[in-house]
Amino acid sequence: MTENKEHLPNILIVDDTEENLAFLEAVIENVEANLIQAHSGYEALEKTRGIELALAIIDVWMPGMKGYELAVRLNDERSGDKVPVIFLTAAHISEVEVFQGYTHGAIDYMFKPVDCHILTCKINVFLELFNHKQSIVRDAALLKESANELKSSLEQQHRLTQYIEKVRENERVAISRELHDDLGQALTAVKIDLGIIKQMVPDNEVVLKIKNVSVLVSDIIKTVQRLTSQLRPQIIDDLGIVAAIEWYTKEFAQRTGIELFLDMDSGVPITPEASLTVYRIMQESLTNVARHSQATHVDIALNKAGESVYFGISDNGIGIAEDEIKSKTSFGIISMKERAASMGGTFDICREPDHGTLIMLIFPLNHIRADENSDLR
Ligand SMILES: Nc1ncnc2c1ncn2[C@@H]1O[C@H](COP(=O)(O)OP(=O)(O)O)[C@@H](O)[C@H]1O
Ligand SMILES: [Mg+2]
Repeated sequence: MTENKEHLPNILIVDDTEENLAFLEAVIENVEANLIQAHSGYEALEKTRGIELALAIIDVWMPGMKGYELAVRLNDERSGDKVPVIFLTAAHISEVEVFQGYTHGAIDYMFKPVDCHILTCKINVFLELFNHKQSIVRDAALLKESANELKSSLEQQHRLTQYIEKVRENERVAISRELHDDLGQALTAVKIDLGIIKQMVPDNEVVLKIKNVSVLVSDIIKTVQRLTSQLRPQIIDDLGIVAAIEWYTKEFAQRTGIELFLDMDSGVPITPEASLTVYRIMQESLTNVARHSQATHVDIALNKAGESVYFGISDNGIGIAEDEIKSKTSFGIISMKERAASMGGTFDICREPDHGTLIMLIFPLNHIRADENSDLR
């Protein structure tokens, strides 16, 4: 082995004749490769164990292990790609023998006496192939590494999004409680006091003013109630997702004038956590319908299909544009996808052929049944 060429691709040369080895060595001296010489098949196997070979040049006829057997054993010891083999042989080899060589891993034959220019050219072709292969292997490893990094940063992003969503939900609960307990109760007290004051005041004009203020306070109380239930719809926890959807859509229809048709299985056994996800997706989708669709009619379905739950909303509006579906700034859509993923489900939104938009949420029943004792509604 030439000392300073150890980092170069390895070429094995095997010949029982010293002269032939010397000739090959002289040829390969001019090539960018590290030479491993052996006088027999056994020596060759010994010297190349665990070493990657770019090429093997093997004499067919040697005492002991023949060239073909060596080729087979060289490749048997390697798990990766086959080592290309050039067999050196006397000119009188038969066609049968040539065929036998190819079946044993030969890439090429060269007949003795070997032309050193042709051999150099052939060796260079194999080295080029080997170097290409090496760079592909290196690129593949880099690609795999980048893919793994990408995957883990995506996972991190998913976890972060889910965490932020949880924090937002907790904040909503806290604000909703403050609104309900403090502001709501204070307003109710004001309303009661106004009623008492009204009875104590003789002046009709003042009574009228008090009545007006009382109506205003009632409106504010209703607004607070609406805000409270938008922030955290207590109805989901109290009566379940079906009742919550019925309540929300009734209010939505009154507010927007859009007609809604509901087709929901009453006994879909989903947890409060999944119910909240379905509810938030419904809220976002219906807000989109009101804001962007120009629809007059919306269908909502919530059904159990085998071990999955299907939740669909379709409108008869202008239909979502293809580029909006894929847009990186469609944060409402992205957030619905994230919510679905957090339950091990899928979220799809598409434009329907006969106009309108369809959203489909499908999630596994098993996944959300993690808490076996949870309140199934
Ligand atoms: N039901 C719908 N009908 C028509 N277009 C829609 C519908 N839902 C969403 N879109 C389109 O998709 C876009 C992205 O929606 P979304 O991510 O919720 O963002 P935003 O509502 O804040 O614009 C909307 O701006 C709208 O153009
Ligand atoms: Mg939106």
